[in-house]
Amino acid sequence: MKTKMLAPSLLAADFAKLHEEIGTVEKAGVKMLHIDVMDGTFVPNISIGPPVIAALRPLSSLVFDVHLMVNEPDRYLSAIAESGADILTVHAEACPHLYRTISKIRQMKKKVCVALNPATPLNALDYILDDLDMVLLMTVEPGFGGQKYIPEMTSKIRKLASMIVQSGSKALIEVDGGISHHNAKEAMDAGADVLVAGSAVFGKDMEKNIIEFNKIMSNG
Ligand code: DX5
Ligand code: ZN
Repeated sequence: MKTKMLAPSLLAADFAKLHEEIGTVEKAGVKMLHIDVMDGTFVPNISIGPPVIAALRPLSSLVFDVHLMVNEPDRYLSAIAESGADILTVHAEACPHLYRTISKIRQMKKKVCVALNPATPLNALDYILDDLDMVLLMTVEPGFGGQKYIPEMTSKIRKLASMIVQSGSKALIEVDGGISHHNAKEAMDAGADVLVAGSAVFGKDMEKNIIEFNKIMSNG
């Protein structure tokens, strides 16, 4: 069985205390940090970019899972890779030449993940599934934290899980958006391996929030 993992989303952290908050989640046993890069064009919001990721890199040994919500991601791949990303996620909707984009990420010796918006069909992954380390299913429309999980996404996770088994791909399934203690089990039971959670982790009691997720994930 694939390991289940929690990836706190930095978007929900206190941006004035990034170092401290990353330290807190790392101490609580988290292994992967989800970092959202937004350009204000692909999504109607702007977040952080390579200089911030590069500044955080020496301060943490977490796996940096960088989610590019940008148009023309090819223009930024090397800057993101050089900033210290371990996993590069590009949106299928933003990549007219997805096969080439995937090859570029591979050449930079980084892990490759392709993200799909909620309404993008899974057949966008036909012909590339074997080349991926991970698929990110958006379970809200990308752009903002704190939105509500779209219930129809549970069957999409399930379908992707069976596509992966049938194809023999080793890709993990990551889900992102509206993941909380209330629906984590539902997403995992459907086949999610990596749960991204922003508002359900950062906030008042991060340690407690993470312990609660770990309980749910180990009982899954
Ligand atoms: C949204 C981002 C998410 C976001 C999730 O577009 O991709 O990673 O931070 O936040 P929550 O968990 O609050 O929905
Ligand atoms: Zn994200």
